[in-house]
Amino acid sequence: MSDTLNNELEQNALLIGYVVGGGLKENLRVRLSGSPQAVQEGAFVVIDSNTWRFFGLVTDLQLGATDPRFADEQSEGRFSPDIAKLLVGQTLYTNAEVMPQLMMDRGPDPLSPEYSQWVKAHPDQNPRPLSVKTIPAHHALVRMADSGDIEEIFGKPDDEGNFIIGYTREQNHPLCINLDKMIQRSSGIFGATGTGKSFLTRIILAGLIKRDKASILVFDMHNEYGLDDTASDTGEEVKGLRTRFGTDVQVVGLGKGTTIRGQTPDYHLEIAESDIHPEDIELLTKELNLKETTPTTLEALVQTFGKSWFHEFKHMNNLGRIKDETGKPIPAPGSVDEWASNVGVNVMAAQGLHDKLRKVFDRPYIAENIARDTLQEVTLSLQKGKHVILSFGDFDSDLDYLLVTNLITRRIRDAWEKQTDEFRAKRTGEPRPLTIVLEEAHKLLNREMASQTTFSTIARELRKYYVTLLIVDQRPSQIYDEVMSQLGTRVTGWLGDDSDIASVLSGLAAKDSLRGMLARLQPKEEVLMLGWSMPMPMLVRTRRYDERFWRELGVRELPRTTNDYLKALGFN
Ligand SMILES: Nc1ncnc2c1ncn2[C@@H]1O[C@H](COP(=O)(O)OP(=O)(O)O)[C@@H](O)[C@H]1O
Ligand SMILES: [Mg+2]
Repeated sequence: MSDTLNNELEQNALLIGYVVGGGLKENLRVRLSGSPQAVQEGAFVVIDSNTWRFFGLVTDLQLGATDPRFADEQSEGRFSPDIAKLLVGQTLYTNAEVMPQLMMDRGPDPLSPEYSQWVKAHPDQNPRPLSVKTIPAHHALVRMADSGDIEEIFGKPDDEGNFIIGYTREQNHPLCINLDKMIQRSSGIFGATGTGKSFLTRIILAGLIKRDKASILVFDMHNEYGLDDTASDTGEEVKGLRTRFGTDVQVVGLGKGTTIRGQTPDYHLEIAESDIHPEDIELLTKELNLKETTPTTLEALVQTFGKSWFHEFKHMNNLGRIKDETGKPIPAPGSVDEWASNVGVNVMAAQGLHDKLRKVFDRPYIAENIARDTLQEVTLSLQKGKHVILSFGDFDSDLDYLLVTNLITRRIRDAWEKQTDEFRAKRTGEPRPLTIVLEEAHKLLNREMASQTTFSTIARELRKYYVTLLIVDQRPSQIYDEVMSQLGTRVTGWLGDDSDIASVLSGLAAKDSLRGMLARLQPKEEVLMLGWSMPMPMLVRTRRYDERFWRELGVRELPRTTNDYLKALGFN
C-alpha cells in the first residue's frame, strides 16, 4: 500500500464529522458523525476544504434535533429497537463548535496534472500556516489532528530549540514549545494553587538548563527548586535541579548559616549595608506603611553620609531631646533628632522613618562588612553561564522577598546593561541571555509596585538587554495589565476566579471562546498555552516530572557528595 493511501486511511479513521455552518466570528458548526463523547472541548481538529487546510479547536458541544419532539421524548419505548435506532440516527445529532485558528494552502494533489502549475504559481514551496482569514466550505470533512498535523504547527520534538511540554488530551501526541523563542520575551505560568505551576516550572527550567542557551536565576521563595523536596500532596520525593544538574546549578541560601530543610546550600548570600539604595527602601512604602516624606528624608541621609547612609541611620538612637546642664532641651547626641535638626530635615518625619526601618535594620542577612561580595559572585556565575537558585530559607516574609529580589535584580540588570552597551560598541563579549524566575510575581508586579520595580522594566524591554522574566503566579488579575500584555507566552492551569481568567486571556482575539475552556480545565496537570510564541492556543496535558522525564531529557543522577557516595554504597 502506498504511503499516501496509508495516510488517507489513517486520517479517515480520525474523521469526526463535517461543517454545517458558522463563520469566522461565531466559529464553525460541525455535525458529528459519531457519539458526542468522541470529541472533547479543546480537541485540536483539522478541516480540509479544496486546497486549503484549516486548524482549529473544539470550543463547545451541543445536542440538537431536527424537530424538538424527537429530543423531548424517548423513542425506544414506542418503537421497535431497530426503528428507534434509525429514528434517533436521523433526527438527533451533536454539533461541535470549532474555532478556526490557522489555515494553509496546500495546493492540489501532488499526483494531479494541476499540481505542477500550482507549484509554478507558488514558488514558496513550503506552505506555512497563516492566521485564519477565510473559512472551509459547507460539508468540508473534519477530523482529529494526527501527529503529523501537530508537528506541522508546533514543530517536531527534535527540531532545534523544541522541547516537549506535554501531550494532547485525546491522542497523546507530544506537543512542543520552542524554548529559544520562549525566552526572547518574558513569559508567565499561571493557575490556582495546586494546579502544577511549580512542577511545570521545574520541567521548563530543566529543559532550559539542558539546552544551555540562557542562564537562569530563580528567586525560590518556597525553597522548592534547588534541592530535593517532598511533594506536599503525595509525599513523594521530588528531585531538585541542583541534584540533577550538579554544579552547573548553584543553590545560594539567603543569609549566613541559612539551611534549606536541613541541607547546606553551595554558598550564602549576604547583602552589604552599602548595597542598599534609597530606592530599595521606597519600594517598601506599602509594606512598611511609609509616609510621603520618606524620599526627602532618604535623600538628606545620602547627602550627609553618602554610601554609608544605611549604616549611619541604623546606628542613630531615637532618644529625641534631652536636657542640658542648664535644663534647656537639646537633641540627644547621636540621635535622629540631632541629625535631622542639623541638616534641616523634618524631625518627626526622620524619627518616623527610623522607627519603621527597624524591621529592615534587623534583617540578619544585611551585614556591615561582608567577607565576600556574594552578590557579585552571583552576577559573575550567571554571566559565565551557571544557574543560580536563591533560596530564601526561613526568610519568607513579603518584606524579605520584596527587598531582596529588587535589590539583586537591579544589580544584575545594571551589569547586563553595561555588558550590552559594551557589546554594542565593541562587538565583543555578547551577554549571555538571562531568565529570572519569580514565584508570587504579583507581589512585585502589582499595579502600585510595577512602576517602581526593575521587573516591569525588564518585561517592557523585551530582550534588549538579554534579560527576560518567567513569572509564576496564582493571582494573575493582580499583576499590572501592562506587564501582562508584554508576556510572550502564557501557560495557564485551572483558575477559579473570573477576574484571573479575564486577565490571562486579555488582549487575545479568541478570549470569549477560550474562557470556558480555561474554566473547565482539569484541576491539575492540564494547561492552556497561549501567546506570541505559540502558533495557536493549545490545550496540553503537561508532562510528568518523574524519573521518565529525566531519562527522556538524557540527564542522569550523579552521586556528588561523599554522603551520596556512601548512600550509593549502601551506607546510610
Ligand atoms: N507535571 C507534574 N508531574 C508530577 N506531579 C505533578 C505535576 N504537576 C502537578 N503535580 C502534582 O500536583 C501537586 C501540586 O503541584 P505544584 O506544582 O506544587 O502546584 P502549584 O505550584 O500550582 O501550587 C504536586 O505536589 C504534584 O504531586
Ligand atoms: Mg507552587
